[in-house]
Amino acid sequence: MIKPATVREIIETARAEDIVGDFVNLRKRGTNLIGLCPFHNEKTPSFNVNPARNIYKCFGCGRGGDPVNFLMEHEQLSFPEALRWIAAKYGIEIEEVELSEEQRAEQQLADSLFIANQFALEYYQQQLFDTDRGKSIGLSYFKKRGFREETIRKFGLGYAPMGRDNFSKAAEAAGHKKDTLEKAGLVKNNRDFFRDRVMFTIRNLSGKVVGFGGRILQKDIKAPKYINTPETEVYNKSRILFGAYEAKQAIRRADECIITEGYTDVISLHQAGIENVVASSGTSLTVDQIRLIKRYTPNVKVLFDGDSAGIRAALRGIDLLLEQDLNVKIVLLPDGEDPDSYLQNVGLNAFQGYLEQQAEDFIFFKANLLLKDAGNDPVKRTALIKDIVGSIALIPDPLKRSLYVKECARLFGVDEQLLVGEVNKIIAQKIRKHQQKAAAQDQPPFPSAPPPGVGEFMEIPPPPEPEKPTIQGDEYQERDLVRLLLLFGDKSFDEDNAQTVAQFILSNIDDVIDNFDSPLYQRIAKEIQVLIERGETPSIDHFMKHETEELRQLAINVAATPYEFSENWEKKWDVVLNQKAPDENFLKDSSHGLKRFRLRKLSRLCDENIEKLRELMEQNAQEDLVLYMKLQQRLQNLRNSLAKELGTVVL
Ligand code: GTP
Ligand code: MN
Repeated sequence: MIKPATVREIIETARAEDIVGDFVNLRKRGTNLIGLCPFHNEKTPSFNVNPARNIYKCFGCGRGGDPVNFLMEHEQLSFPEALRWIAAKYGIEIEEVELSEEQRAEQQLADSLFIANQFALEYYQQQLFDTDRGKSIGLSYFKKRGFREETIRKFGLGYAPMGRDNFSKAAEAAGHKKDTLEKAGLVKNNRDFFRDRVMFTIRNLSGKVVGFGGRILQKDIKAPKYINTPETEVYNKSRILFGAYEAKQAIRRADECIITEGYTDVISLHQAGIENVVASSGTSLTVDQIRLIKRYTPNVKVLFDGDSAGIRAALRGIDLLLEQDLNVKIVLLPDGEDPDSYLQNVGLNAFQGYLEQQAEDFIFFKANLLLKDAGNDPVKRTALIKDIVGSIALIPDPLKRSLYVKECARLFGVDEQLLVGEVNKIIAQKIRKHQQKAAAQDQPPFPSAPPPGVGEFMEIPPPPEPEKPTIQGDEYQERDLVRLLLLFGDKSFDEDNAQTVAQFILSNIDDVIDNFDSPLYQRIAKEIQVLIERGETPSIDHFMKHETEELRQLAINVAATPYEFSENWEKKWDVVLNQKAPDENFLKDSSHGLKRFRLRKLSRLCDENIEKLRELMEQNAQEDLVLYMKLQQRLQNLRNSLAKELGTVVL
């Protein structure tokens, strides 16, 4: 490990213009340097280096950072690798810190596994190219599949010989400990793990060999077609994507990652010049694998074999891609074809044309697929809509979501508002769950940064700043009232079910409903009034499905934040609320909320009335003056008794 002092020295020495300048042609413009962005395709330069601040920034694609970031991004280096690169450039001597005994042991084990795997790779290669059986069985097989020699070498393809322990013997003779070979998954129960199979080398992102896949050649044998290195200290299946090391530069260049099912697909496409390809190795994707892709691009194209039995199962893995905010397209290959076979059948141009034409947005692909499954069965169709709605709700970008909702509503022949409502319900649930978790951990419901993956779902307004009660701006109280109306409006207010909370509130604000500050909150209050008059029971669901986006968002936010934090209340209103769970508390809450609201409105009317009185005095309008003074008296009485009830001092 590099000593922290050395790390600091390296970071302080690195100059953005030097390091970026090694990869990008930079020209001076003013105090900055500009050039063509190496991270996206452009013809006019929008890539800037600011030597004074020692950073780079592209105004086209948004990438930016310090010199170390640049190397990590551009050269796909890890942090220590980037540091070593810079140290070498500037001739800084690297001082390492002593590792703890445990760390050293771990490091040594990992190193020895890498070394054993590297030995195995060379051994299998040598078997493939230099032995009779390797050539006649293995090499001829790869050749028959159309792999050129440079491809075979690049991907470290090989052949594991027959027999019980040929590899083990060779490895031990070369000085590898049996224990290490076992820990690397190369030897098991004193036998070679891979026997008489053609070999595919699996590398990590820095190109080190972490494992192998071995394909059987005889068709008649019952053994599985592929066996893979078991999990080892250096091979964690869920973190590795086959081909990622060979593909990473191309993925960034193309700004797209193609995911296939098989090893041979990756190799075949790569050989044909489509290098931005990785394989999921026939299993569904894991979050770690997706994060790995996301480091290089947000755009993913998943290719499914034409006969893929696993499409439906794979859909769930693809939901994970959505959740990670990747743009996912699906290409289904023609019947009986996999990417490798289809490419070889039709040639590169036709293959690329097919991908281009057939690539279908994941949500629509899934919707159509499920629609086919469901037919006209209403139960199945309901389940299908639930399923799709679940997928759409995972998409963090609200604009994208609404686009999908529109299309899917059309596709299913259902009302768009219905889908919107369903999607919003799921999102609200999610946020609520997250908040409960946060609350259980005794954290504020909105940490300064939104919780990963959840806060991103929508803009959640932060809890309002405690503002000084001024004449203007009753929005806070109005919001609170609307919150009560939306959440508990349909609950009964009295024991004897004589009226609902909404009825109670509305009958009490009838006289001030035209004095709302917020047109939005006023609109909701009035709309609820209309609903009640029509004999309907207003509910938050109604607003979650509302045709007006603004109202929908508000309803979601209210559902997501059923009650505000009491701290603000106390500071602001001198009202000590005994906050219970909102569901137990709504009665007390609504009468309190109402009183607070009325108090604000009355105070406001008092203030406005005083202004009016002043005007009238100036105009010497005696008659009106008397009238308004009476009104003032009434307003003040109402206000003061309300304030007393609330225990609030009115200034
Ligand atoms: P070919 O059949 O040689 O063209 O290989 P392929 O890579 O196209 O294989 P296939 O489409 O059958 O399977 C896709 C991927 O799933 C393979 O690349 C393997 O990673 C994995 N796989 C296939 N069969 C097995 C198996 O029997 N066991 C295991 N563990 N993995 C398998
Ligand atoms: Mn295949």
